[in-house]
Amino acid sequence: MRKNYTVCTVLSVFALVCLLQIPGFAQNKKSAPQLNTKNVKQVVAAMTLEEKAKMVVGMGFRMPGMPPPSKKQKKEGVDIGGFKLPPSDPDAYNIPERVPGAAGRTHAIARLGIPSLTVSDGPAGLRIQPKRDGDSVKTYYATAFPVATLLASSWDTSLVRKVGVAFGNEVREYGVDILLAPALNIHRDPLGGRNFEYYSEDPLVSGRMAAAIVEGIQSNGVGTSIKHFVANNQETSRNSINTIVSERALRELYLKGFEISVKAAQPWTVMSSYNLLNGTYTSERRDLLTTILRGEWGFKGFVMTDWFGGKDAVAQIHAGNDLLMPGSPNQSEAIVEAVKSGKLNVKDLDESVERILHIVLESPTFKKYKYSDAPDLKEHAEVSRMAAANGMVLLKNDDSALPLKSGKSVAVFGNTSYDIIAGGSGSGDVNKAYTISLLQGLDNAGYKVDANLANSYTGYIADAKAKRPKQRNFFMLPPPIPEMDVTGMITTEAENTDVALVTIGRNAGEGADRKLENDFYLSDTEKAMLKSISDAYHAKGKKVVVVLNIGGVIETASWRDWVDGILLAWQPGLEAGNAIADILSGKVNPSGRLATTFPVDYGQIPAGKNFPGTPAAKPTQVVYEEGMYVGYRYFNTFNVKPAYAFGYGLSYTNFDFSDIKLSDKNFNGTLTINVRVKNTGSVAGREVVQMYLSAPTKTLDKPSEELKGFVKTVMLQPGQSQVVGFVIRATDLASFNTDKQAWIADAGKYTVKIGPSSEDIKQSESFNLAADIITEKVNKALVPQQPITELKK
Ligand code: BGC
Repeated sequence: MRKNYTVCTVLSVFALVCLLQIPGFAQNKKSAPQLNTKNVKQVVAAMTLEEKAKMVVGMGFRMPGMPPPSKKQKKEGVDIGGFKLPPSDPDAYNIPERVPGAAGRTHAIARLGIPSLTVSDGPAGLRIQPKRDGDSVKTYYATAFPVATLLASSWDTSLVRKVGVAFGNEVREYGVDILLAPALNIHRDPLGGRNFEYYSEDPLVSGRMAAAIVEGIQSNGVGTSIKHFVANNQETSRNSINTIVSERALRELYLKGFEISVKAAQPWTVMSSYNLLNGTYTSERRDLLTTILRGEWGFKGFVMTDWFGGKDAVAQIHAGNDLLMPGSPNQSEAIVEAVKSGKLNVKDLDESVERILHIVLESPTFKKYKYSDAPDLKEHAEVSRMAAANGMVLLKNDDSALPLKSGKSVAVFGNTSYDIIAGGSGSGDVNKAYTISLLQGLDNAGYKVDANLANSYTGYIADAKAKRPKQRNFFMLPPPIPEMDVTGMITTEAENTDVALVTIGRNAGEGADRKLENDFYLSDTEKAMLKSISDAYHAKGKKVVVVLNIGGVIETASWRDWVDGILLAWQPGLEAGNAIADILSGKVNPSGRLATTFPVDYGQIPAGKNFPGTPAAKPTQVVYEEGMYVGYRYFNTFNVKPAYAFGYGLSYTNFDFSDIKLSDKNFNGTLTINVRVKNTGSVAGREVVQMYLSAPTKTLDKPSEELKGFVKTVMLQPGQSQVVGFVIRATDLASFNTDKQAWIADAGKYTVKIGPSSEDIKQSESFNLAADIITEKVNKALVPQQPITELKK
């Protein structure tokens, strides 16, 4: 035994001595550092140019449900419905995916100890394939949380953080490193096809919601990608539209939410958008991605493109867009060539690689986290239900139509009562195990649901679905099923049931904006159905309540007088029916408030004049002529009365605002302002306290007031009150002065306005600012290529 051991040792030493004789072996070993937190620069220095160019380009696109590309397609690219995908990287198919259905991966460089990261959509839940080839037992469903617009309507950042914690747990437990969310573009126009993925028309709400969810998700040790940076407010011509916006509207509206969330929550990554901004693709704008994002805001992570976004890989790397997704070998080749020819400074490339490696070091994959593939979906469904109920908005409740006592008999009308829409389509869709319909939700809550009507609907819907043409690609929505003709049933229903619930449903998503006909406006069939149901029930002295299962704003003014109650349930995630029943029954007192305005008519929307751009047949550019006058900033300033104002929402109780107290009449660094909110009704509830500010307009045209703070009260019992406080800082007083390239608080009189909605101010106080304050000087950036004639008051 001892003899054998000695022989082995001798042989090993001999082998090592021999290896050291091989030219380059010792040096190779030395020059191949293994990535760790202390040697990022050394690792980059050890990379070949080709390796660096691979590191900044994703592993390629794997079409969901499509076979690997043919040889020809690998060379020339693939045409999908008029959109030419660049040649795919063979690695996308050759290297097995860790998480099937994830949107993309980065390259691994094994010799340097760099693993491949997996990134996956999307904003309302982790979007991965629920079943895997060769695995007939296990499923990989994820929780569909409520869409972002609903979350924003909760005005509750701790609730949204909680959603983030549950959401991020699924990201981690399914083996994903970076979630491609949240999305926080501004609701510029109600027809924006992806508005449901976005929070609000207001940047403060958007930024704070995004920060809250980023914090929650990232608390799990996984990353996020806030998107789509920036001014991606429509889907029409999304890959080619030139968005022309003034520097001021950009700074005050479109960039602001991103600025707030970057500074507050440091997302691991930012996703640049598809559109051109003032003449250049956002992914190719160094002033956006380097000067502003990193220089001014202190962003520390890396920037990735949206999928196939932008054109010029070299310009993208130079701009500071570190990772090109999903990645094509053409891009790596172009980068290598550009460095060789001197067109791209290798320093730019090195910086991008370094930024990616810093995030790789943080990732669960690098840390060899042993994910379970078994997150607690039951617990997360509870979080989803709770969040959904807390973000629904009660728009109308005449004569206390709601809450509805348990045990009542209910006639449930409308296709989407039975085929409820949990969330929007495209990359914002989630593969969930189930969705609770309104019918099931009502049943679970103890209502007597009319079975005859229910049977007719379920049969009708199943039939219509069977006849649908096959979907061409994953983000093409099937045409909505026309409402079932209920004319012959209404009288009997009105006779036999206590109340009618009618759901109006809408869906939208990636790749297309919404339409006015039969979408923003109700269809003739829907209106006729509503009218005849309300006539029949009212004739019997019974009530009609509408549930809006929608992802974006619709017209309500022409039909709302026909009904007694309207509950805006948005697209509430997989527990939809249960969450709606929680509100209908009064188990949860509605405390959602609108984070986006409902106009009386589309004609009121200032952006509507040029949405989605010109020429109408195929828009190539869109000019944001409304400037800052988006949403309530427009309605309030120009005294236009919307159907339901920004901030609006009813409760089953009432609140009183009193005792406003401002710490000083003169602004001197900061001010505090307090107000008392009291529950004066008979059930417990929560109010959203909104703080708006009116600023002097001597030097600049300014909206009549802007939201500067919001607080959701605790659960106030009847008779209980809470003092809510806000701090006002100089930055809250400042507007962006383009000529001076600075944020300036103008001297003069400011008025603080506090209330439960933007048009219902209950308490106000004024203070004075003695002299102008320049709160921040910024760089000249993002200058429009042409003068914009902006709306002024
Ligand atoms: C969407 C992104 C998404 C990406 C990856 C793009 O089409 O615009 O929001 O993250 O695809 O699926």
